[in-house]
Amino acid sequence: MDRSEWHRESAHNSLGRLLPRLEVNYKHALADVPVRWNHFKNCLNREWERLFICLHELYGWQYDFFYTLEQVLDMLIRSWLDRPEAMHQLDEQREVDPVWFLSEDMIGIVLYVDLFSDNLAGLRNHIPYFEKLGVTYLHLMPLFSVPHGENDGGYAVSDYRAVNPDLGTMEDLFQLATELRERGISLVLDFVFNHTSDEHTWAQKAKAGDPEFLNYYFTFTDRTLVDRFQEHLRDIFPTVRKGSFTWNDELQRWVWTTFNSYQWDLNYSNPAVFQAMAEEMLFLANQGVEVLRLDALAFIWKRLGTTCENQPEAHTIIRAFNAMARIVAPSLLFKSEAIVHPDDVIKYVHPEACQLSYNPLLMALLWEALATREVKLLEHSMRHRERLPYGCAWVNYLRCHDDIGWTFDDKDAWHLGINPQGHRKFLNDFYTGKHPGSFSRGVPFQFNPDNGDLRISGTFSSLAGLEEALEKQDNHMIELAVRRINMLRNIQVSIGGIPLLYAGDEYGVLNDYTFLSDPRKVNDSRWVHRSRKRWEAAEDLTNTDTLEWRFFHEMVKLFKQRKHSSALRNGGMALADTGNPHLFAYIREDGDQRLLIINNFSEHAQVMNAATLAASGMTRDAHEIFTQRAIPAGEDLEIDAYRYLWIDISGQ
Ligand code: GLC
Repeated sequence: MDRSEWHRESAHNSLGRLLPRLEVNYKHALADVPVRWNHFKNCLNREWERLFICLHELYGWQYDFFYTLEQVLDMLIRSWLDRPEAMHQLDEQREVDPVWFLSEDMIGIVLYVDLFSDNLAGLRNHIPYFEKLGVTYLHLMPLFSVPHGENDGGYAVSDYRAVNPDLGTMEDLFQLATELRERGISLVLDFVFNHTSDEHTWAQKAKAGDPEFLNYYFTFTDRTLVDRFQEHLRDIFPTVRKGSFTWNDELQRWVWTTFNSYQWDLNYSNPAVFQAMAEEMLFLANQGVEVLRLDALAFIWKRLGTTCENQPEAHTIIRAFNAMARIVAPSLLFKSEAIVHPDDVIKYVHPEACQLSYNPLLMALLWEALATREVKLLEHSMRHRERLPYGCAWVNYLRCHDDIGWTFDDKDAWHLGINPQGHRKFLNDFYTGKHPGSFSRGVPFQFNPDNGDLRISGTFSSLAGLEEALEKQDNHMIELAVRRINMLRNIQVSIGGIPLLYAGDEYGVLNDYTFLSDPRKVNDSRWVHRSRKRWEAAEDLTNTDTLEWRFFHEMVKLFKQRKHSSALRNGGMALADTGNPHLFAYIREDGDQRLLIINNFSEHAQVMNAATLAASGMTRDAHEIFTQRAIPAGEDLEIDAYRYLWIDISGQ
């Protein structure tokens, strides 16, 4: 018998033994939903083998593997029985159209509840604002119970089933999810599953010496093994502390803490951890969450002698989570948060793993091109790295709550004669305003003196030159900054994938330096772009002359156009040669529509000549979508400083 036959047979046999026993345990609950139970069993039969293979890979060597299988299956049935009726209906709807998120209608926004609307109840009053923007995907930053004081912006979770009382209650969350769903907006939350806070009950029990819960984390009585692991690990927050381990006095042990000392890494080699966290995941899905952002997923498996990032088992765990979601909550999607090398980013994206992924490469390279005014690295990298499997989409962002790291591939840079290390140094100098002539007001984040690594904090507008321009009261500089911002926004909206707006950027919010006087924030410069400032485009706004209005208006215009352009459906994108180092162009096509989109990364007007235009697909006279300007074939085309054009070449 070969391996795959063995898998098939063992999966089949295990389910055949376990399911009837569990069916008896749940017979009363199941008697109420016979038709739905049959549907569940169909899903289970379809997905079980896939789940079994993953679990066998992870835990098959442990003496109690069959017990693990039983525990997992029992948990799946429990979670499914808890799923609200409205979510079952959504599941049915999504099963008919599983790639609904490839639609040109998709537009996302991400925000901190406290900074945006104080609390969850308040957020409901802002749904009309999201509708005005055209948002269909709302990502709320972590909102669960966390330690008082430092909690990494909510990423140190103490209880996955309790909302931080400052923000509201689980009922508020459920209500909000329901209301959003009724208005066509999907709720997105983080699933912070690499670690818990040191105040989570599991950590508390571990601290009390309970061996069951000690095994939920990685703890070490002496430094021998710690040092052997540490040799290969990188420091994530080097200015806060060195190394990935924290000494805990109560335990008299070292604890694995990849991020902050109060974020304890979970031990997924323990099947009880896998099962407990999967249960938390499905609990969130049952609250009405449609997309889970899988936080820090690259770190979830540790192996001695490696960097403990992107290990094969990390992928197996995600695929197992995916299979469980297909069984219990088929409408649930995962978004990968792998901010790692581009070769590794892509490996998490698959219909059977994460259907969505941040696109950190595009983000970093757009900023790179803005600094250099040249698009060669962007173009070269996109040419061979943009494509995703069908049924998956990029989430394109320009800014988010985190820093910017220069995650391009060194070989891509060398290929173009760029020294990657030198280039990263240049970009850091540029975005912290040190480079002569820089327009940017970024703030350094996590400088590591050992290797010179540095990342960048700052808001979209401050990084793109608006802060400096406003300070100097220079109208020309203001104009250039506004155009830079709008051009990057255009690419985000039109290049393929879901555009994700970081709240505040829709009206050009600048850096907020008040974090410097808050002892809980002063060591983390990311707070410079996590601002409490609010501005909301009111219907009756009389002063439409403000910068805020201009940004907002431009953005809504782009979003509306996106929703009216069938060419922007699905992610497919083909780069077009422009023959000009400052122009970045691509073709989007779907249905009857074909668009050639051109962006000028220079502060001077640039020309795409007639022959190149023809070679890029504009063989006949065409027109520009936003301005309706005629673009005659056979003539050179001039594109103004930092402008973008959508040329309709349908049927050509
Ligand atoms: C992710 C988050 C980041 C957080 C880290 C640890 O990278 O985006 O903000 O610090 O995970 O949870």
